Amino acid sequence: TRVLTLLGIESSCDDTGAALVRHAPGAAPQILANCIAGQTELHAAYGGVVPEIAARAHAEKLDLMVEAALAEAGLGLADIDAIAVTAGPGLIGGVLSGVMLAKGLSLASGVPLIGVNHLAGHALTPRLTDQQAFPYLMLLVSGGHCQFLRVDGPDDFTRLGGTIDDAPGEAFDKTAKLLGLPQPGGPSVEREALAGDPARFAFPRPLLDRAGCDLSFSGLKTALMRARDALVAEQGGLTQQDRADLCAGFQAAVADVLAEKSRRALAQCPDITGFAVAGGVAANKSLRAALERVAGQVPFLAPPLALCTDNAAMIAWAGLERFRDGHRDDMSLSARPRWPL
Ligand code: KG4
Ligand code: ZN
Repeated sequence: TRVLTLLGIESSCDDTGAALVRHAPGAAPQILANCIAGQTELHAAYGGVVPEIAARAHAEKLDLMVEAALAEAGLGLADIDAIAVTAGPGLIGGVLSGVMLAKGLSLASGVPLIGVNHLAGHALTPRLTDQQAFPYLMLLVSGGHCQFLRVDGPDDFTRLGGTIDDAPGEAFDKTAKLLGLPQPGGPSVEREALAGDPARFAFPRPLLDRAGCDLSFSGLKTALMRARDALVAEQGGLTQQDRADLCAGFQAAVADVLAEKSRRALAQCPDITGFAVAGGVAANKSLRAALERVAGQVPFLAPPLALCTDNAAMIAWAGLERFRDGHRDDMSLSARPRWPL
């Protein structure tokens, strides 16, 4: 029932972030600062995130990001009600760096500490951006995650299903790699697909025959590799049009599968008041359109991209919701590489 201002810290994958979020009861939440430093260039040569490099970069950047966020908001630690930090799941080195910094700041300033599940951060974002009421359905689709969550409260999540192998972003990235397109693969594949024929290659729609909301993307990747190899064997290489058609076919298969499983998840939650997406893959326009179609009468929410992908504002917000509900952590807070919701 009072104004709360939280500092959020995020370092679970390859983005180092610090943000300040303020909420006055009855008003829309305010993002006072949302600073982020990516590491794409550092990992570019390796074709994926290298944990040791990520951990070092987080350790170097974390305090700079916190300073930048406080400066941007014109606040000091004394103005903060609590420090929220991603305590997992994620790459242990990065999570540890964040948790240690948060503990240090909390100890030095006496500001309470609160550990946040990174997935809860994503899942609660529609409440930060659109004041979405409970219950709602969330589809999280990123390079590391893919799951349907029914959200009934800040600490009340039900997983309805998810990928049994790769995340869709990972599949986009591998597809780009197989076709010699630049990383991150999602935007490259989407761009190529614009000029492609999605019907030329009959890619599988994995798990559609299986009841429920589980998904699989590794078979799709294998099918794409076979189609590419067949073309290379036949023609000695790929034409621009082959690439475009492969991308369009792949993207259509991903969108079809996600749309059909969304339809099933929606059917399992007749009482929800919104269907939201988050994660980098939610940037994909044809996917968004497909999801919006299956949402039908249910309001469809796609937060702005900077809040869909990894960021610290969502951690500050999730921390704020937990803090308001009376949750606190102490110096025994530990970093958890695995932490299901
Ligand atoms: O949420 P995010 O920034 O990071 C985590 O994985 O946590 O998501 C990154 C993923 C990458 O795999 C990237 O290729 C994918 O999101 N992505 C896209 C698009 N933009 C980014 N996938 C499909 N279409 C896009 N336009
Ligand atoms: Zn994430």
